Amino acid sequence: MTETLPARPVSGESFKRALAVHASGVVVITGQTEGIPAGLTATSFSSVSLDPPLVSFCVDRASTTWPALRRADHFAVNVLASHQAELATRFAAKGEDRFAEPTRWRPGRFGVPLLQDVSAHLICLPYDTVDLGDHTLVAGLVLEAQAHTPGRPLLYHRGRFGRFLAH
Ligand SMILES: Cc1cc2nc3c(=O)[nH]c(=O)nc-3n(C[C@H](O)[C@H](O)[C@H](O)COP(=O)(O)O)c2cc1C
Repeated sequence: MTETLPARPVSGESFKRALAVHASGVVVITGQTEGIPAGLTATSFSSVSLDPPLVSFCVDRASTTWPALRRADHFAVNVLASHQAELATRFAAKGEDRFAEPTRWRPGRFGVPLLQDVSAHLICLPYDTVDLGDHTLVAGLVLEAQAHTPGRPLLYHRGRFGRFLAH
């Protein structure tokens, strides 16, 4: 006889510990609403679909930056390069003017804030959002994609930033 297992989720500790060993790239999502730029660091970035070209990220519904970002008519995904760990920390810090010096950025197409010296940027049209648990999954239709340099990626692994080492 097959035992019916209770649908009991894993503990938060085990969940975080297991996910922490999944190394990921680091992006900063940026947008502009009523002339004011907003942005946050994210590792939940992923490609979703080739046709149409869709990407996604997940944002904490408790984020105080997301309400401004979600009102932006476009958003950019800035893929950080290996020397940009401080920038990643800055765009995750509370109570900072994230776009003030030393952050270097310029308005791109549609007025979307683009960070300087990133490995790549994608300019997206908001496509869909789905509330999942305590996060919102955001999908964007990619209107413009530019890889700027053959630069090395910034990685995040077990709570630390690091670099990629090829075999
Ligand atoms: C490496 C790293 C990755 C992060 N990834 C995400 C993410 O994928 N989604 C998210 O909502 N917050 C993520 N955060 C947290 C936000 O960047 C940060 O908490 C948030 O912007 C600060 O709070 P605020 O949104 O209220 O300003 C990450 C932070 C760091 C340092």
